[in-house]
Amino acid sequence: MYQPVHLSDDIYYVGVNDRRTGLFENIWPLPRGVAYNSYLINDEKVALIDTVEIGQVEKFLKKIHAIIGDKAIDYLIINHMEPDHAGAVSIIRELYPQIRIVGNKKTLPMVEGFFSINDNTIEVKEGDELDLGKHKLQFYMAPMVHWPETMMTYEASRKILFSADAFGSFGTLDGGIFDDEMDFSYFSDEMRRYYSNIVGKYGNPVQKVLGKIKELSVNIIASAHGPVIRSHINEVTEWYDRWSRFDTDEGVVLAFASMYGNTEEMVEVTARALAEEGIKEIRIYDVSQTHSSFIISDIFKYKGVVLASPTYNGKLHPKMEALVNELLHIGVKNRYLGILGSFTWAGTAAKQLKESGESLNWELVGQPVEEKHALKKQKYDECRILGKHLADKLISERK
Ligand code: FEO
Repeated sequence: MYQPVHLSDDIYYVGVNDRRTGLFENIWPLPRGVAYNSYLINDEKVALIDTVEIGQVEKFLKKIHAIIGDKAIDYLIINHMEPDHAGAVSIIRELYPQIRIVGNKKTLPMVEGFFSINDNTIEVKEGDELDLGKHKLQFYMAPMVHWPETMMTYEASRKILFSADAFGSFGTLDGGIFDDEMDFSYFSDEMRRYYSNIVGKYGNPVQKVLGKIKELSVNIIASAHGPVIRSHINEVTEWYDRWSRFDTDEGVVLAFASMYGNTEEMVEVTARALAEEGIKEIRIYDVSQTHSSFIISDIFKYKGVVLASPTYNGKLHPKMEALVNELLHIGVKNRYLGILGSFTWAGTAAKQLKESGESLNWELVGQPVEEKHALKKQKYDECRILGKHLADKLISERK
């Protein structure tokens, strides 16, 4: 029934879309769903590369059956054990009891731990090869991108890299499977949101894996999420290189918490000064309205960050505190920081934001501006000066 989707003559896309799950990992909003990608190689030996999240297994099995009918699957390659990909391992094993599960020394204990499977497994290491007949698969370890067992599988004759989560993005594949079958701009933003929030902590491991990929000739990147990439290979590898080095574009993200609008007003004044000085990429986010994953995605893109918060019960506004904690958790590096705050009887927000900036090793630009009660002339001017300082700093780095 299903029209097979070919990556090449006998290599197929058998992934599925999930439009029902609201939060990926029960954290990250999925406004346009997510795809769990899996791939099938129908050679003398049949190999399945990763499975899908368990809730989507029925569609997945139908797609496999449409390609191989009653033929057995010989190998299940597990590039990544997170249950959005390994969710159907048990069912696949039940349906294909002779299947051999292929993973590395970190994968196989997880297979046993999650599924109580410890037989019919094959342990592979860096550079090992699995012969399917016409196709040979090579394995490259990708530890901490973003789990320790993660690996990539390379098919040399068609130059396909099955890259696990790397180069993946949120968003379902709505008809188009390949990057050149769709407007890729949506996925480029969602790739950054996926990277920054899920993989972003692991810049050094990503750099190591990019070094390995550079040695391979790659025509197709078949990620575990989002479009199969064949027309934007240089772009996505360059993005990954930049993001993992915390390299940035010129621009400023102003993220604020504001109960009654006083802190927000300071942000608006600062943003206007930035624009007057020639900064064109300015993003203002209310942390109470926009999920942190979108804010962090833009913080990964732009060099300038302004954090603004009222003092709330002697601390940061809880929503700002949560954003700051996530930035600390990821360890975002190499940013310019401006600070704004407001209070009614005792101000501590600006001081706490300054301490967080120091923990992140971000460069503080200008002086933190903290207003008591409503915004008045002196602090209004200081917001403008802060905007100007930040703009000057960014503009001085223009190439
Ligand atoms: Fe797509 Fe780390 O799972």
